[in-house]
Amino acid sequence: IDQPNVITCKAMVAWEAGKDLVMEEVEVSPPQPLEIRVKVICTSLCRTDITAWESQAIFPRIFGHEASGIVESVGEGVTEFVKGDHVLTVFTGECKTCKHCESKKSNMCQVLGLERRGVMHSDQGTRFSVKGKPVYHYCAVSSFSEYTVVHSGCAVKVSPQAPLEKICLLSCGVAAGLGAAWNVADISEGSIVVIFGLGTVGLGVAQGAKLRGASQIIGVDINPEKYEKAKCFGVTDFLNPNEYNEPIQQVIKRISGGGTDYSFECIGNTGMVTTALQSCCDGWGLTVTLGVPKTNPEIASHYSAFLSGKTLKGSLFGGWKPKSDLPSLVNKYMNREIQVDEFITHNLPFEDINKAFTLLREGKCLRCVIHM
Ligand code: APR
Ligand code: ZN
Repeated sequence: IDQPNVITCKAMVAWEAGKDLVMEEVEVSPPQPLEIRVKVICTSLCRTDITAWESQAIFPRIFGHEASGIVESVGEGVTEFVKGDHVLTVFTGECKTCKHCESKKSNMCQVLGLERRGVMHSDQGTRFSVKGKPVYHYCAVSSFSEYTVVHSGCAVKVSPQAPLEKICLLSCGVAAGLGAAWNVADISEGSIVVIFGLGTVGLGVAQGAKLRGASQIIGVDINPEKYEKAKCFGVTDFLNPNEYNEPIQQVIKRISGGGTDYSFECIGNTGMVTTALQSCCDGWGLTVTLGVPKTNPEIASHYSAFLSGKTLKGSLFGGWKPKSDLPSLVNKYMNREIQVDEFITHNLPFEDINKAFTLLREGKCLRCVIHM
């Protein structure tokens, strides 16, 4: 039989928090039972990679979770994939058998959910090493490597016709935004929506709101350069909090006639969750959080917000069950029902990945696609 061997390839390794990634020769183990080894084709840089790289303590580590690739080999017991299949990686898997996977109400798989310790779900081990030293994973994906190993439940087979250099964005940011608008908030026609943070996640929400027929989509961002791009995703009003002497929630209440139907936090700033809650209307106002905060994970709110009927709802990956739902989202893109290409502001070769970090940190890009 064809036994997969260790592969030696290039990976961008993070050795220390906040320090430039370094290109290294890494050894990638063969896939273990129920795992697959994937040749990464494209990976985009998401804000969450930066947040973890700046604030977490697990090093050395290979980041990257928004990616597309081609199956190189499969481990024992894998029946769903064969060599050559086109896949999207996902940072939160779907085992299809746990209580949450069986429930329509949740995408929080209890077996293959968000992995926080930098290891594989199956044996708490790593599949990467540099000169014999183990290198940790990120979200059980680690796409900043020419080859990576993922659990077969953390990859989704997609149509081979779909362009991998574009649809990698559907493995996290764009899908999370669309899903928050459609699955989590379930925005109805004619609604007024406010979105805090006009990065890829926030503009994914804007696109979702527009496609649901929202009548007003207010975008809030401290970076005025975001407005032009935001317009093409449906944002109708742009507010820069720095240009007002009054709290931005007051401005939002005024221009929305008493508060919005929905508000979305797409920054990763818990203070803005409070502001978002204060911006939506009494009675039915719904605030959805998508951001991942770096510090101060506690949220503050006066209980009167809830007494007056508001709801605060969390979400991970826009409520999508990755295996069940992503292929149809890819098909929507292929049928031109959703925009994805417009989120790509830069394309860079793998060796320039540190430039992508700088661009995203400086607010100069939406998505940078890294070509391996
Ligand atoms: N007020 C308003 N806008 C802000 C503020 C603030 N205090 N701070 C940052 N922003 C804006 C930035 O200018 C930027 O346009 O929020 C936007 C965030 O966008 P990106 O950095 O491109 O991040 P994105 O990838 O869209 O992720 C957004 O979702 O998945 C999470 O971890 C991710 O928390 C992050 C959030
Ligand atoms: Zn499950």
